[in-house]
Amino acid sequence: MSVGILALGTYAPPKVMTNHDFEKFLDTTDEWITSRTGIKERRIADEHEFTSDLAIRAVENLVARYGEGALEGVDLVIVATNTPDALFPATAALVQDHFKLNAGAYDLLAGCPGWGYALAQAYGMVHSGVCKKVLAVGAEALTKIINWQDRSTAVLFGDGAGAAVVGQVPEGYGFKSFVLGADGSGAKELALGCLNPRLPGDLPMPKTVYMNGREVFKFAVRVMNEASLEAIQKAGLTPEQIKFFVPHQANARIIESARERLGLPVGQVWVNVDRYGNTSTASMPIALQEALDAGQIHDGDHILFVTFGAGLTWAASVLTW
Ligand code: ACO
Repeated sequence: MSVGILALGTYAPPKVMTNHDFEKFLDTTDEWITSRTGIKERRIADEHEFTSDLAIRAVENLVARYGEGALEGVDLVIVATNTPDALFPATAALVQDHFKLNAGAYDLLAGCPGWGYALAQAYGMVHSGVCKKVLAVGAEALTKIINWQDRSTAVLFGDGAGAAVVGQVPEGYGFKSFVLGADGSGAKELALGCLNPRLPGDLPMPKTVYMNGREVFKFAVRVMNEASLEAIQKAGLTPEQIKFFVPHQANARIIESARERLGLPVGQVWVNVDRYGNTSTASMPIALQEALDAGQIHDGDHILFVTFGAGLTWAASVLTW
């Protein structure tokens, strides 16, 4: 059985915060942020808007694009997020209830690669016959958990959501490979605290996002390349056969390094980190939707997804569209 993406929808809050807005209260400049990250602006959820709200908006957008029937038969909802509305209940249950789906629901926490992991789980659930269709959402209200006085992290993140219905597709289409990886020895490099006051290694668990940017950068450059090559090989393809590249949008320099190492042409990668910043689990679905809307992806194209983040974790997959 071939399993792929049947429908897609996204949402980003309308409120825009530019680099110049940060200049007003932080010791930073538009020039620094742009040259180090490629980010020019990001979207900010308002004070009443949480991850479940963003997720629901993305699913509404999916329904607007594909019709009410797109949710018919969905029997599992996975919300990949690092910023759930609460530790429990699962944000996915709130989404299930909003759309009155006859479905199971759970959240998935795997750092920024969460949506990549969710796609793998959705694939497995459908392929094994456990589920018929899975609604795999990536949604984040990251600007609620950053320290606005920390210039090395505050400027990086934004809010948004993306939702895909994963189900059976015609033979020859759909997912061709998945690579999932983790290296928990890097847990301390990117963390946000809650119940356990200390990380492994007896380090204090930070109350707002903590990141060792340099270490994460080095890890990202290495793993984006390695995971991509592994996913391409597992799919029985070569890099030359990849027609479009949808990477996690964390930093334009990281994306450019991955594209170059894979030998992919500039026009075959989607970059929107300049407009959204890092929306974590939402970044790949938003990028995929924009690339589709722009007519960049054609019937039968092999698409490469790759993502990295807190854990440290990574995920890559190849999908034939
Ligand atoms: N404005 C001005 N100066 C700044 C800013 C800022 N916004 N942020 C940091 N600096 C300063 C630092 O304080 C440092 O100053 P110092 O030398 O006096 O100490 C200097 O700039 C250089 O800092 P570096 O950290 O070395 O800068 P670098 O070139 O590495 O860029 C960055 C930092 C952009 C964070 C980069 O390391 C990076 O992108 N790392 C990867 C981050 C990432 O992708 N995270 C997402 C993970 S996904 C997830 O799961 C959430």
